[in-house]
Amino acid sequence: MRLSQILFSQGFGSRRECAALIGHGEVQWAGRTADDPDEEVATDGLVFNVQGRAWVYQAHALILMHKPAGYECSQKPRHHPSVMSLLPPPLRRRGVQPVGRLDEDTTGLLLFTDDGALIHRLTSPKHHVPKVYEIEVKHPLDDDQIARLLGGVVLDDDPTPVRAAAVQRRTSFTLSLTLTEGKYHQVKRMLAAVGNRVEKLHRSTFGALTLPPDLAPGGWCWVSADEARALGGA
Ligand code: URA
Repeated sequence: MRLSQILFSQGFGSRRECAALIGHGEVQWAGRTADDPDEEVATDGLVFNVQGRAWVYQAHALILMHKPAGYECSQKPRHHPSVMSLLPPPLRRRGVQPVGRLDEDTTGLLLFTDDGALIHRLTSPKHHVPKVYEIEVKHPLDDDQIARLLGGVVLDDDPTPVRAAAVQRRTSFTLSLTLTEGKYHQVKRMLAAVGNRVEKLHRSTFGALTLPPDLAPGGWCWVSADEARALGGA
């Protein structure tokens, strides 16, 4: 693929802006500064550098963020900044979107991609992708609450019960809960339905992916091809 086309596909601006970046000596690959926008470059495993930052060529972007509290997942946030503001401009420009949503006060693993089919696959209730939430609650947990979360509770907008695929009580006030669907405020509403209240909510895993322990809130990283395959993304 032509180098200027590669930059264009990866979100570095219009074709003209991408050619200008190369013309101004701001793009390096294979250890040298590029000067020809029309140079043919193999994209397989390509790592290139733009204005001092390294990028890996990805036909489709798939990234994992440690969502901090205080950010909305909406593209048009109302009360808090959007999680999109935590991403660098090339990723925003190539149209990545959050895969599902986390509430403003929820922290943890949030995926982004520009692959619409993958978003559909990962968020469709038909595919039962498990997500694990770490929860702190207001009132002590009892056996009845755990049994009802596993057995199924009815939420206010649908008579069909929703159930947790797994529940692990960690302490009297903390538990982890695995869900394979993603209804609006589902964890908070399920805990409310059994007479408790969520005080803190953190998503630790999404499908086969776990939040890397060294990824600080607000940070992001690429999902590797192997991880993407495990997720059903390749
Ligand atoms: N369930 C909720 O209630 N909130 C989230 O952010 C995610 C799952």
